[in-house]
Amino acid sequence: MDVQELLRLADGLVFAKTGKRLDDLQQAVVRGTWQGKRYSEISKEVHCTERHVRNIASKLWQTLSEILDEDVMKSNLRSTMERYEFSHFSNFLNLNFVEQGNINFCTETPHPPKTPQNSPPTQTSTEDNTQQKLRLDLRDAPDLKTFYNYPNSPLTALENAIARQNCRLLTITGMAGTGKSSIARNLIPQIQTQFDRIIWRSLRTSPPLETTLKTLIQFLSNQNLPLPRGGEGGVFPTNTDAQLSILIEYLRENRCLIILDDVQQILSSGQLAGNYKPGYENYGTLFKLIGEIPHNSCLILNSWEPPSDILTFTDDNSAVCLLHLTGLGEAATEILREKGLLDEESWPELIELYQGNPLWLKLVVQTINNLFNGRVSQYLSYQPVFLSDELTPILQQHYQRLSEIEKQAIALISNENEPVSFTQFMAKCQGSQVELFKAIQSLDRRGMSEKLSCESETVFTIPPVLKQYVKMVGE
Ligand SMILES: Nc1ncnc2c1ncn2[C@@H]1O[C@H](COP(=O)(O)OP(=O)(O)O)[C@@H](O)[C@H]1O
Ligand SMILES: [Mg+2]
Repeated sequence: MDVQELLRLADGLVFAKTGKRLDDLQQAVVRGTWQGKRYSEISKEVHCTERHVRNIASKLWQTLSEILDEDVMKSNLRSTMERYEFSHFSNFLNLNFVEQGNINFCTETPHPPKTPQNSPPTQTSTEDNTQQKLRLDLRDAPDLKTFYNYPNSPLTALENAIARQNCRLLTITGMAGTGKSSIARNLIPQIQTQFDRIIWRSLRTSPPLETTLKTLIQFLSNQNLPLPRGGEGGVFPTNTDAQLSILIEYLRENRCLIILDDVQQILSSGQLAGNYKPGYENYGTLFKLIGEIPHNSCLILNSWEPPSDILTFTDDNSAVCLLHLTGLGEAATEILREKGLLDEESWPELIELYQGNPLWLKLVVQTINNLFNGRVSQYLSYQPVFLSDELTPILQQHYQRLSEIEKQAIALISNENEPVSFTQFMAKCQGSQVELFKAIQSLDRRGMSEKLSCESETVFTIPPVLKQYVKMVGE
């Protein structure tokens, strides 16, 4: 067992029991212990007191002792975990060889794959399905990192949607950094036993539908050059409809989980939210088929905005779900704690200012640590919101995607101290009422505006960070 395997195993065990990933400090303790370091040495590396490190370590040993049902301490961590892994993995393999064949991970298993990638085609008869193997292709997925789960977290909602509601098409939306990829990545270990095949693909390079379908079919059929039914003479069909039918067949035959990340890359800039880029409209057919045709599989889409046609079949179809992420809320305090910030009483204000967006918070934490030695209240005493060189390009990408009328609407909100009503939009923005309705709705779908109920009318505002960016652009 090497240190990475030890960390992965400890993290998995702790996560299974507490729902929390090992934080940086706990990882440093595990790593240091593996390297035979003293607590005093570990504490120097992580810039904490030795007492704090001892405390963290002692709690971690206690948690692991409860999980493994034997005393775990610094001196026996490595041998206990190796013993556990050996016995557990042998049982696991036996079980799976008997019941499922074996398991073939494309990444992240500490053990070499037991079956080569291009093994024989998948069986097709229902009887043989029970012999099939769980296969994962997570080459495109991000690594598992510290992930704070919390009561009523969207992770639980997603698990329920998939396990109980049999959701076939699940769209997770939210601005960059809200945690879409992280949540989908952390969902996999929770639900993987329910699936036969799991594949993660990013659309960051805007691949045409045909390329994506080919990759998916290749993986699901377990062949390099798929020769599926429907392909005449063993040739992969060039016709998109035929490719889609083949994919749907595989989704019926096995329970497959497909995650398509960065879906906003196939959607247009300069238009209202959710329109496909020219040439990418046929992705809509894929999403529609998966959402509407009966099968046992699930497609998760991660996107800054929902593709517009998905909204048309969300309402009366319980197999199609939409989840909008807005940030971690109170759970974001864990990030501030992990980064050693001071002035805990000011944290809620900081979190609100950055909408609990974990990425934005991580970036501002760097500034607060660099300039103010972690003093949050000192940072907050300066106005306005500081946009670092790392945060500005992220906001710029969101801003550049907006249509002209959306830009006018958020410029208006940014110039006002109070939230803005429709009457004010109508008076000050160019464009008809219909166009303004569409623009405000589009901003809402992008998660870039917030609706507030104010006495007799609804008013709109935008997150302070965005307000600051829009003001900067207008200067
Ligand atoms: N629940 C969480 N707990 C801790 N960190 C998180 C959580 N969700 C996201 N993060 C962190 O926030 C950052 C942005 O998350 P990411 O999933 O990449 O966002 P998105 O895919 O929406 O752009 C990453 O550094 C990630 O590790
Ligand atoms: Mg992402």
